[in-house]
Order: sequence, then C-alpha cells, then structure tokens
Amino acid sequence: MSTLHQAKSFIRHWLYEVDDHSIHSPYFYDLYTKLVTRKHPDGLPVLEDLRRDLESNKTVLDVEDFGSGGQGTIRKRTIGEIARTSLTPYKWAMFFLDLLYHSNSKRVVELGTSLGLTTLYLAQKTDATIYTFEGSHAIANVAMTNFEWAGKKNIKVIEGNLDQTLHRFLEPTDKIDFVLMDANHRYVPTLEYYRLLTRRLKSSSLVVIDDIHRSEEMEKAWEEIRTDTLVYGSVDLYRCGLLCFDPALNKQHYVWSLK
Ligand SMILES: C[S@@+](CC[C@H](N)C(=O)[O-])C[C@H]1O[C@@H](n2cnc3c(N)ncnc32)[C@H](O)[C@@H]1O
Repeated sequence: MSTLHQAKSFIRHWLYEVDDHSIHSPYFYDLYTKLVTRKHPDGLPVLEDLRRDLESNKTVLDVEDFGSGGQGTIRKRTIGEIARTSLTPYKWAMFFLDLLYHSNSKRVVELGTSLGLTTLYLAQKTDATIYTFEGSHAIANVAMTNFEWAGKKNIKVIEGNLDQTLHRFLEPTDKIDFVLMDANHRYVPTLEYYRLLTRRLKSSSLVVIDDIHRSEEMEKAWEEIRTDTLVYGSVDLYRCGLLCFDPALNKQHYVWSLK
C-alpha cells in the first residue's frame, strides 16, 4: 500500500468534493441529505460490544490469504489482529445498513465476510437475506459462531475462493438488490467479480466497492468500473465507491464525504 498514492488521492478527493448546492438530481440529493449528511450514532451497542470482544481475542487462526496479501498462503493471525485491521468501522456499517433500508434491498451479497461484523449490521434488515462469501475456513467458522450467537437466520455463508464460488452462486440466482465488494482488493479480481455480478443486477441495484483509493490498482479498477456503460450514477465517498444502474440517472458522478 503506497502512502504517497493515498495522500495524492485524498487531496484529489478533497478538491473535487461537492455539497448539496451542486447536486441537481433529486435521487442523489435525497441520498446526500438523508444518508450521507446524517450523523451516524455510535453503532449498534450489542455489535460494538462484540467488536470489542473480538479485538481483544488472542485465539490464533491458520488463515488462507486470498486477498491483497498474497494468493493462497497460510498465515497465523489472532482473531484480535483480524478484528483490528480488517473490519469496517461502525459509521460505514451503519451507512451500508441505511442504504439497504433506503433501497429496500432484499437480496444482498457481501464479498468478504471476515468475522461477520458488517454482515451482522446488514442482517438487521430482517426481510433481507445476506449472502456472504469468505475464503478462509478458519475465519468463516468464527463468523458463523457470531451469527449463531446473534440468532440471525437471514445470513447464508458461502465458503471458498470467490474465483470459484461466485459464478457457481450467480448461475441459478435471481436478481440482486445490493452488493458490498470487500474481499480481494486487486485489479483483476475486482473487475472479474464486477463483470460476473452485472449479469444479476437490475436498474434499482446498488453496488458498493470498498477501498477504492487503497492502491493504484484499486484506483484503476474503480475508474474503469465507474465509467462502465452499465453504470448510470456513481459516488466517490473516498473509503468506498457507490454505483447505480438506473438509466434515468443520466451518467452522474459525485465526490462526497460521509459525515
Ligand atoms: C476486508 S475483509 C472483509 C471485512 C468485512 N466485510 C467487514 O467489514 O467486517 C476481506 C475478507 O475477504 C476474504 N477474501 C479475500 N479474497 C477472497 C477470495 N478470493 N475469496 C474468498 N474470500 C476472500 C478475506 O479472507 C477476508 O476475510
């Protein structure tokens, strides 16, 4: 991860950022004023207690590294270390949950379960089913224990490398309302997973890609995807990018910061 790259992209984001006066589309104005500028409370107490427990958990796992750390190697990592470095902060998890309610999403796909904390935030929308994908067997086991403990029945875990599991899942699947891509932060897999997912998207679907400015290759993937012919609206929120597919949105792109 290049610090110089991140500094440059942060400055660029700050320069291009706009506020509600520059938003002409009613759809994006609504999104900005209701969701992006809403003060997010301190997360859901029961899930933030779980986060704290995970952060201090010293259990060592053998973790297959499918992500940007290196394909297929096994590393010893404590649950605490994973919780402190990989999990989405509550402000963003709450924002994703807000997006589910805003779009009334029912079929939700999360690429990259990790310990399942963001999954548990998404699963608060009880009429939604969350299909969550994790490659590491040891991590998926911890996530499933968390789902059982939380008593959430609307989460389905798909274990295995996304390179194999995603197209197998998508083949017989109905249209998807919401996707959170937070697994393999590399250029080629990001493009490939996006392409596969587009077969099951509809005009009202939303796709969030996490870590779009994390590296030059993620920056490149984001630029290519947000300018794809199927994308009719996009928002750069710095931490992540949001994609919309409704032709009525007429190819708009915004740069915002989550409050
Ligand atoms: C950043 S973490 C996900 C964090 C989670 N969404 C959250 O906010 O709590 C990324 C996860 O994706 C998994 N992953 C990365 N590449 C994968 C692949 N090719 N197939 C399956 N899982 C993968 C990693 O094992 C890791 O647990």
